[in-house]
Formats: sequence, C-alpha cells, structure tokens
Amino acid sequence: MTELSERFDPGFVWGVATSAYQIEGATTEDGRGPSIWDTFAARPGHTYLGHTGDVAVDHYHRWADDVALVRDLGLGAYRFSIAWPRIQPEGKGPVEPRGLAFYDRLVDGLLESGIEPWPTLFHWDLPQALEDAGGWPERETAERFADYAEIVADALGDRIRHWTTLNEPWCAAFLGYGAGIHAPGRTEPAAALAASHHLHLAHGLAVPRIREGRPDAQVGVTLNLYAVSPADDTGRHDDAARRIDGLMNRWFLDPVLLGRYPEDVLRDVAHDLPADLVHDGDLATINAPIDFLGINYYSRHVVAAGAWPGAAEVEFVQRDWPKTASGWDIDAPGLGEVLAQVHRDYPPVPIHITENGAAFDDALEHGEVRDEDRIDFLESHLSVLADAIDAGVDVRGYFAWSLLDNFEWAEGYEKRFGLVHVDFDTLERTPKASARWYGDLARRSSTKEHS
Ligand code: FCB
Repeated sequence: MTELSERFDPGFVWGVATSAYQIEGATTEDGRGPSIWDTFAARPGHTYLGHTGDVAVDHYHRWADDVALVRDLGLGAYRFSIAWPRIQPEGKGPVEPRGLAFYDRLVDGLLESGIEPWPTLFHWDLPQALEDAGGWPERETAERFADYAEIVADALGDRIRHWTTLNEPWCAAFLGYGAGIHAPGRTEPAAALAASHHLHLAHGLAVPRIREGRPDAQVGVTLNLYAVSPADDTGRHDDAARRIDGLMNRWFLDPVLLGRYPEDVLRDVAHDLPADLVHDGDLATINAPIDFLGINYYSRHVVAAGAWPGAAEVEFVQRDWPKTASGWDIDAPGLGEVLAQVHRDYPPVPIHITENGAAFDDALEHGEVRDEDRIDFLESHLSVLADAIDAGVDVRGYFAWSLLDNFEWAEGYEKRFGLVHVDFDTLERTPKASARWYGDLARRSSTKEHS
C-alpha cells in the first residue's frame, strides 16, 4: 500500500479551518456591531444550554497563540472568516477601522509564520441591522455584501490570494430562514428560497468587486454537499433522493456553475417560490467564472418517500451505521460520490475541500486527548480523496474542520470538532493526537520525506 502522504502532490494545500463567530468572542469590542448569531443565541431555547459566542475560545485576544499552533503543526494554509459586523457594524456605511485592523494583524501574523491566509467573507454572522431591514430574503442585502467584500478586498487584497465569498449558503438560507434552527431563526419557506437566491446574487456581485485591480486574486465559494441515496434499490425512493439532491446540492451548484436553477427543483418548490424573485440578468451575474469551488463534506443522507401513498414528503432514514458525536453517519465513500458528481455534471473547476471533520466525545486525560476515532475519520476521508484525485478529479487542497474546539452553533460547546482541545473554562489549548497525526501527514506530503 502506498503511504497516504505519498498520494498527494507536494503542492497540495494542507490547512485547517475556523470561523469568526465560533472562535473569536469579544463580541462588543472595538466597535463590533451585533450579528444575527448574537441575537439568536441570547434568546432562550435556541442553543444547547443557552450557550453563546460571547467569549467563544477568545481567539480575538489569543490569535497569535492560535497562529503559532497552526505553524507548529506544519500546515501551510489557514481558512478563517471575517466578521462583517466588525468591519461595518451596521452592515452598511461607515467602516470600523479597529475591526479591519484585527484582520490586518492576523493576516500579517499568518504570513510571517509562512501560512497562507484563506479568508471567507461570510460565515453566517450577518449584521443584525441588515436582518432588521429584512435580512437575506431582501435583495438589497446582496448589494450590501458586495460593498463589504470590496472594502475588505481593498484593505487586505495586497496580501490575500484566495478569497471565498460565502460559506454554505444552504445552511444560511434553509436552516436560518426555513427550519429556524440557525440564526435568525425564521420558519418561512418562501423567505428561505428568497434568501438562497440573494446569497447566490451576493456571491456573483462580489466576485468582480474582489477581482477589480487584483488580477492574481483567486475567488471561490464554499458549498456544503451531501451524498444522497435512496433507502433501497426498489426505485420507490428514487424521487425522494432526486428531491434532496436537488435542494441540497444542485440548487446551489447549478446557478453558480451553469447559470440556471434546476428545472425539477423549480417545479418541486413552485408553491413557495416568491414571484419576481429572479430578475433578468441575475443568473448571468451568479454564473461569474470562479477560480475554485470549495466543498464542505460531512455525511450522507439516506432518504425514503413519505409513508402516505402519493405523498411528496421525504423521510430521512436513520441507518444502523457508525456515527460521530453529532449523530452524523461516518461515510467516507460519500465524499467520493460528491466529487464524482461535480466532476461529471459540471464544467471543470479546481476544487478545495474547505471543511471535513468530526465531533467525538474527546476526553482530556493526563494532559492528552487520544482521539483515534478522529484520526480514523480523517484517514478514511483522505484516502477516498486520493482515489478521486487518481480518478481525475482536480482537488488541490484540504482543510480539516476545525483547528480548535469551538462554538458549534445550535449545539453550543457540546460538540468538539477541534484538532486542538480547548478547556472552555480556562481556554487552555492542548493539541490532540489527531493534530499531531494530521500535521505529520501534511509535512511528509509537502516535503515528501517519508518515515
Ligand atoms: C459546517 C459549518 C462549520 C461547522 C461544521 C461542523 O456546516 O460550516 O461552521 O459548524 O459544519
């Protein structure tokens, strides 16, 4: 068997990922305005035990230590997100220089440590002022995002090569405005669809604004894609699988990469789709050429037709299957299926896996976390990734989620995804066994020194 590290090119990008609200804390410092996640988490019953990101893991003050952790692991890239409410506390208008200065220091710190910064401009923390004006279901929010993107690109563009506009618009739109389990906690199907279109538009409007005057800029967007399969092979559940693949994957891939919404999904959602949502020219804007596609992969959905004859509803089937602490099926082959689908059905585009990882019930014992289950998870997914590359899929990088244990949205601090353990009382950081394993792999692969 070829060693895993030998299966990736020396130029392959090895990184770790985080996001602003999940790690920064300091939510009222240096002029930061409130975001929808501050508001949502502060309302009782929305997050596990009422946890909030007020302190998170205090990265705002400990960023230099965290950069040192990435450097010591030997990783070449760090994906983080920029908090829009730190840059424009009201979501539009005046820029808060102290907010920009924070990311300026972070970017310089990363570069001094030989780590390439990979910022994402929107990882769900919409300024509350914009939500008060209607949020993502309002077209105007897309315009505001493009302005904000330009402000950040002007400030940091001399040092940033890879830009990601959005993280997982599916979650922002459908969990935030449809299911209501993420901020802003609305349960309005039409608003969720409108939000998804305006997120796409925000991406499309931002791409040229980031590129302007920066011919080297590489701009992409990150989508969360799922493997989807029918509950059995009788054919009875195929339509359920088509629907879920349509809504979770193709509704996002098609406009960005093909410049159209999938016809079958348009039919599925016709009764909820607001009239006049898609204006002439929107799809051409959204279809702006991108330099890379970011894919976040976590699991597979197995689906079945609703129990009632003729019912369109879909049921998510619980398989008796190994799971992470989040209850998600551990399904490495699904990553291969997702990559094969993108490769087969869309024009060629370089891919980066911008998130992949797992929560487990880690125990810190005698100063150590021996998270063999996380190592197995990473190893199995990376081996599937190497197979996909061998099969011709153009994957150029991989970012493990996450550098640190952090605020896992509605799950609060209950789920630990970090390669580095954080004691949430003392905020002390302790690299887990998986961090060492991953760092060694990245180092061996980049230098091709084999043990
Ligand atoms: C993804 C999010 C990320 C993290 C992981 C576990 O959907 O992008 O912030 O919460 O899931």
